[in-house]
Order: sequence, then C-alpha cells, then structure tokens
Amino acid sequence: MEKVIIAPSVLACDFSKIGQEIDMLNQSAAEWIHIDVMDGVFVPNISFGFPVLEAIKKKTNKVLDVHLMIVNPEKYIETFAKAGANIISVHFETCPHIHRTIQQIKDAGCKAGVVINPGTPTSVLKDIVFDVDLVLIMSVNPGFGGQKFIPNAIQKTKEIADMAKFVQNKGLKIQIDGGVTNANAKALVEAGANVLVAGSFVFNSENPIQTIQNLIDTTA
Ligand code: DX5
Ligand code: ZN
Repeated sequence: MEKVIIAPSVLACDFSKIGQEIDMLNQSAAEWIHIDVMDGVFVPNISFGFPVLEAIKKKTNKVLDVHLMIVNPEKYIETFAKAGANIISVHFETCPHIHRTIQQIKDAGCKAGVVINPGTPTSVLKDIVFDVDLVLIMSVNPGFGGQKFIPNAIQKTKEIADMAKFVQNKGLKIQIDGGVTNANAKALVEAGANVLVAGSFVFNSENPIQTIQNLIDTTA
C-alpha cells in the first residue's frame, strides 16, 4: 500500500506561536500542511486569509494545501496561488461552474481539488473526477475543528476510489478531513484514502511529531 500523506490542519494550532508550530511541522513526517479558509458565509465560522498563508509560506517548504470554505471562491484563486498555495480545493456546493473553477486553479499553477460535504453524495463528482488532482471528502460538517468523525465517510471513500479507477485517474489523491484519529485512520486508508487531514488530534496531543508518525504507522 502507498504511504499515507498526513496534512495537519493549522486551524487547531496555537496562533500565538504559529512560527514555532510551523517549525515543529517542518521537523515532522507530515508532507502537507492543511490551511482552512472560512468566510462566515458558506460556513458558520471565520478563520484567516492571505496574510497568514503568506507568513506560513515563508517558514516552510512543505506542500501548502488550501481548503477554501468560502462562497465565490473563483474570485480569489489567483491571490491564493500568489500567497503560496500549492493545492487549492473548492467545495462542490459553492461552485455552479465547477469545471471552469478547476481549470482556473490549474491555470494559476496549482493542483486542483474538489470537496464534498457530508450531505453531498459522491455521485455528483462523476463528471469531474477525471479532471481533478484531489477529491476531499468531509467527514464532519465544515466550519470547526474538534468535531466527531461521521463514519459514512468510509463508504464514500470507497465510492470515490472506484470512480477514480473507472476513469483511470491513477494519481488521484483522496483526502479525508474532520475527526481523523488513530481509531479511524486505518479503515480510511484501506477504503482508498491516501491523504489524511488531522487538526485537534495532532495539535492537542502531548507530542504532535510522534502523533503524526503514529498516524502513518497505524495505516501501514
Ligand atoms: C473543518 C476543517 C478541518 C478541521 C479538522 O471545517 O476543514 O480541516 O480543521 O479538524 P479536526 O481534525 O480537529 O476535526
Ligand atoms: Zn479542512
């Protein structure tokens, strides 16, 4: 089985010492850093935007994986790319012209991802899955860290893995976000996930570097 990529979500970090938190991630086995951007409209919470992404970019060479929980994401793609995003993922629910938005992300020089909420079926991705670099399956309702994992995400992971096989998108990243812990990581990877986001499980632990390594080890 291919090695899972861990993408710690900085939403759960201590923002009063974000530089040290990024230094810690630099020393960890996490390959990506997950950046949750929330607008208070699409989701009932506001997080942070461009200046924070730029500051993180200055501190790390890790892949910056930007998850946009905002309405009209197409207005901001180029600015997120310039601020340092390597991957930009947009919610299917916010994009009436998802095919166009995915091309826009690629034209901005980033890898492109599409995200679905817990209440959105995988079937809506049938005609876009061949064209994206990443599918992100939300395993909580977006807006907050520290919520309980919704187990239906495991079945949805299998469905996306089958869809990717069918359209021969061999390099597709299947990412899970929300409530990921050692208790569900293995089942997710067995179902076909290859990128796991983990926020509170990593940052609230005694030893985040070890917790990241443990997540990789439990899925091996
Ligand atoms: C939720 C965010 C998640 C969140 C994950 O809207 O997209 O990335 O930070 O946090 P945990 O791992 O604590 O559920
Ligand atoms: Zn996220």
